[in-house]
Amino acid sequence: RRLPSACRLGQDAVWVPRVDSTNALAWRCAREGAPHGLVVSAGEQTGGRGRHGRSWFSPQGGLWMSVLLRRPIPLSRAAEVTLLASVAVRRAIGETTGLWPGIKWPNDIVHHGRKLCGILAEIRADGEVVEQVVLGIGINANIPADAFPPELRRTATSVLAETGTPVDRLALAAALLAAFDPWLEALADDRPAFAELAEEWRAANVTLGRWVRVATPTRLLVGVAERVDDRGVLYIRTESGKVCAVHSGDVLF
Ligand code: BTN
Repeated sequence: RRLPSACRLGQDAVWVPRVDSTNALAWRCAREGAPHGLVVSAGEQTGGRGRHGRSWFSPQGGLWMSVLLRRPIPLSRAAEVTLLASVAVRRAIGETTGLWPGIKWPNDIVHHGRKLCGILAEIRADGEVVEQVVLGIGINANIPADAFPPELRRTATSVLAETGTPVDRLALAAALLAAFDPWLEALADDRPAFAELAEEWRAANVTLGRWVRVATPTRLLVGVAERVDDRGVLYIRTESGKVCAVHSGDVLF
């Protein structure tokens, strides 16, 4: 009802009160032939997955959703999927709540340094083509501040904790799917996608120009986050003056 009819994402949707992980459930649906754009969401997750093998705190009140993408995308452009999703999430939160959070490279949505949303894209590629993606989006929507365990209180927050008002999760999901859908089509057609949004991403980002430590899958880099290119690659100028390209990793301030 709230989705534009041209939006292919979310035309098919499954909601369950409780699941291990909406990403895992979306893959199970994919194996049974679920269509492009299927959205799987849950009231709570018992085994929510985070990036780099971490777990994701997923109690009731959050928006825990996964979108099944079955449009072939060039592997060289796979990183753009999550960058585009982060801009869509930021816009959706801003438009539905008036709180305009920041984006921490590559795709954490943060407010005053604490995480409001995390994005986990799981990819199935065949050679140079990404055939399927399960895009998992976890928004700490209506989680009371005191529901976070003590070890997360310095690093995580929720929309409710920041604004004092619960957010309509359906409206939030619809806004982000409607924004993301045409950007994903551009990517699938190999047209400019993140390049078109790079200005918006840069204006919202809290990473560039800062002295950072970046944990990549293979090493720890220390330096100034200098720029992000139109494919979403982050460039770090290290103390020796050398500029290193980072395709995936975690930024620590
Ligand atoms: C991160 O580590 O920042 C990514 C967190 C992604 C969490 C979401 S919640 C919905 C979906 N299902 C999962 O198991 N994980 C993602």
